[in-house]
Amino acid sequence: MGVYKIAVLKGDGIGPEIVEASLLVLKRVGEIFGHDFVLEEGLIGGKAIDEKCTPLPQETLDLCLKADAVLLGAVGGPKWDNLPTDKRPEKGLLGIRKALDLYANLRPAKVYTALIDASPLKKEIAQGTDFIVVRELTGDLYYGEPRGIFRNGERYAINTMHYTESQIRRVVRKAFEIARVRRKKLTSVDKSNVLEVSALWREIVEEEKQNFPDVDVEHLYVDNCAMQIIKRPSTFDVIVTGNMFGDILSDEAAVISGSLGMLPSASLGDKHALYEPVHGSAPDIAGKGIANPIATILSVAMMLKYSFGLEKESSVIEQAVERVLQMGYRTPDISSEGTTVVGTTEMAQLISKEVEKLCEG
Ligand code: NAD
Ligand code: IPM
Ligand code: MN
Repeated sequence: MGVYKIAVLKGDGIGPEIVEASLLVLKRVGEIFGHDFVLEEGLIGGKAIDEKCTPLPQETLDLCLKADAVLLGAVGGPKWDNLPTDKRPEKGLLGIRKALDLYANLRPAKVYTALIDASPLKKEIAQGTDFIVVRELTGDLYYGEPRGIFRNGERYAINTMHYTESQIRRVVRKAFEIARVRRKKLTSVDKSNVLEVSALWREIVEEEKQNFPDVDVEHLYVDNCAMQIIKRPSTFDVIVTGNMFGDILSDEAAVISGSLGMLPSASLGDKHALYEPVHGSAPDIAGKGIANPIATILSVAMMLKYSFGLEKESSVIEQAVERVLQMGYRTPDISSEGTTVVGTTEMAQLISKEVEKLCEG
């Protein structure tokens, strides 16, 4: 029995639908195990721009700093697409990651047996895939200075790829620690044949390797890695990489599991943590009640495990998701012949029901 304070940032597009669905599961877990999950909502992204003229209001930031964990839906949408980069909804998300110093973004990509037919890859290639991308989240092109668009004379634009030694080292260490308790294989991804930032990255991985002699290390260039993920996904265990490459590779990894709607994430710092699905606000399906809530529900499971140490509760949610998929229930993004298509809320209700059954038995 515990009391846990969670800042809930629903955001834009399908954000409110998937977060509300995931909260049905969280509440059920709370009732069954006797935990008090205290939820406090904050504005972020486009909704915050509309109501508070900024994508990350100070009160939202304060709420997150005080909370034991943050649960986020997604931000962004066509309504705000014409704003300059530094005023967009996405800036709210980048701001919160930086302010909470969430440097390690864990994105586990797993192929569920029940979903093997939803994968765009051949069954024999996809099966057994179970790896985790550890994406650095507070540096790189995303935050490097100088940056900007210059419009006097011929227009030009600059972004700066930038990493300090300590920024690289802390995320690399985290990835080694994760690999150590998994299958002990670490793939470091860079572009060190071209970029100095990557050369430093590789140097530091080689140094840290001395502290983790039990972990096998492989280095791949990002272009080759993008190809190998499709060719031999089941051979990867932990992939560590920078912010930009990690963003791209994790969407690629997600789709092996059948849908972007399946991939959860945990963004961890030394003091704070935020949990969110890997996908975005999916404006094309927002408001229709058909978004897949599983990525967010699994993000809640990650929160229970990583922030609150509630391993049993977390694993019950994961098992419930697996069971509902085995029973043949699907949101449209993962549906195939012979399966039963359900909406966002119904999927969450089915998962809650299985949580209940697992706890009875
Ligand atoms: P997206 O991830 O929102 O959507 C890509 C495709 O995947 C769409 O076809 C969408 O319908 C589908 N999809 C995504 N999540 C799904 C779910 N849960 N269930 C079923 N289908 C799902 O990416 P996009 O279209 O490139 O971006 C849309 C907006 O979201 C942009 O404004 C972008 O900046 C933002 N975005 C936000 C985040 C975030 O908040 N973490 C992440 C990525 C993109
Ligand atoms: C993600 C998103 C974000 C990113 C955007 C919305 C800022 O794509 O969480 O993967 O690029 O990190
Ligand atoms: Mn992304």
